[in-house]
Amino acid sequence: MTVYLTRVENFNAAHQLWVDEWSDEKNMEIFGKCANKNFHGHNYKLVVTVKGSPDPMTGFVMNAKRLGDIIKTEITEILDHTNLNLDDNFLPEGIQPTSENLVIYIWKQLAPHLNNCTLHRVRLYETEKIYADYMGE
Ligand code: NI
Repeated sequence: MTVYLTRVENFNAAHQLWVDEWSDEKNMEIFGKCANKNFHGHNYKLVVTVKGSPDPMTGFVMNAKRLGDIIKTEITEILDHTNLNLDDNFLPEGIQPTSENLVIYIWKQLAPHLNNCTLHRVRLYETEKIYADYMGE
């Protein structure tokens, strides 16, 4: 039996979406307010779901506290209160700091730290109305 367990963590970070080869007008047209030159912040909500069979003794797919600790150590404490463009400590150089790209790199960072269960989905809310999902494909 496969059961899905989800943990939610939060972080705040700043970014700017921009393509140097484009004009200011085109950047504003494509990225809107996310192209603002002086950066801006988002209150990100990170939703991580793992899947596995509940352990016969504990009944856990994994310890949810431990999942929270892994997410904090590997992701939110690294990204919190950073500038995703300038503080080059998570996304490789040249990767646009969108939620779509962040979920891919968050997945890569988390996956090796799980045992007895596997990652099912990484979901990142950039606003209450916009989120990106990555499921490892
Ligand atoms: Ni933005």
